[in-house]
Amino acid sequence: MQSAQILTEYDVYASAEELNGADKMLLNKAKDATALAYAPYSNFKVGAAARLMNGEMITAANQENASFPAGICAERNLLAVASALHPSVAVEAIAISYKNENGESVHPISPCGICRQSLLEYEERMKHPIRLILGGMTGKIYTISSSKSLLPLSFTSDDIK
Ligand code: THU
Repeated sequence: MQSAQILTEYDVYASAEELNGADKMLLNKAKDATALAYAPYSNFKVGAAARLMNGEMITAANQENASFPAGICAERNLLAVASALHPSVAVEAIAISYKNENGESVHPISPCGICRQSLLEYEERMKHPIRLILGGMTGKIYTISSSKSLLPLSFTSDDIK
């Protein structure tokens, strides 16, 4: 028997002011996109913004439903927008932010498990890593060089060949 370890690397910034200009702009777009959320059940508004390899930026937000499982997270909504509007352009970076109407929005958000799976497949499909910029309305920012880092030992298309 052998033990193995998994190491996840990410960078921590004290605030958005420390980010480079392009990442700061993308995070601001994600913050603005929280206004596009339809979240009457959770009051937790998530905004996501992508920078594509052609320089374009797109945004999306979570959309809830009275039948709760029918709701969709901001991240997967964003990938659907990217895929529909720019089907052959890879995503270079995604910023995610949130506004919790019932509390604070001061810690970095992290994509849910289903979104991690979707982000990973989008990276593999486009053959390009997606850099993640995770924040709140204020406070620390985490950046991660690839969404693959968030889903170790993942199940991918290779597994069903
Ligand atoms: N949500 C997202 O949009 N992205 C995440 O990364 C976490 C959760 C949404 C789903 C639901 O509409 C609300 O936030 C509360 O879970």
